[in-house]
Amino acid sequence: MNRGPLIVLVGPMGVGKSTVGALLAERLGVPFLDTDQDVVHRTGRSVAEIVTEDGEPRFRELEHEAVARAIAGFPGVLALGGGAVGHGGSRALLAGLPVIFLDVDLAEAMRRIGSDTGRPLLAADPERRWQELQDERRALYLEVARFVVRTDGRTPEQVARTVAAAV
Ligand code: S3P
Repeated sequence: MNRGPLIVLVGPMGVGKSTVGALLAERLGVPFLDTDQDVVHRTGRSVAEIVTEDGEPRFRELEHEAVARAIAGFPGVLALGGGAVGHGGSRALLAGLPVIFLDVDLAEAMRRIGSDTGRPLLAADPERRWQELQDERRALYLEVARFVVRTDGRTPEQVARTVAAAV
């Protein structure tokens, strides 16, 4: 298994994993990959389509495959979808890797998510759902993470710099 320069970002929706990940990759001179983008690229469908038409369990399988592929050979910065840590197989693959938990509070996450409708798991009542998911998953983020970096009130550039200094 590749234990090379892979750096993994985990955390909830709206924390800025993709924005920070792209900046961090640029700073380190390595490629950036996002598991959602990888699933969309490989299936030719949006996350919302897959979840709505095939159900969340199917999306989780595809997401786990994206995680496994990336960990097996992707040399760069990998951002995981917010729910990827719910898969025990994915968590096992993260063992020993430099995983960073980007944390954020509800208000800031809501500001960042704004009116984005591409996140089917937040449909109906985004604030309540986001907090429920965060309560369910926080222990899992902490379990897999080597470092925790808070992002509230900080720009993506500041967060990327902190992460680069930590890994
Ligand atoms: C999800 C997070 C999303 C995406 C899907 C489900 C989740 O990714 O994978 O909408 O369950 O938290 P981001 O965390 O990149 O928004």
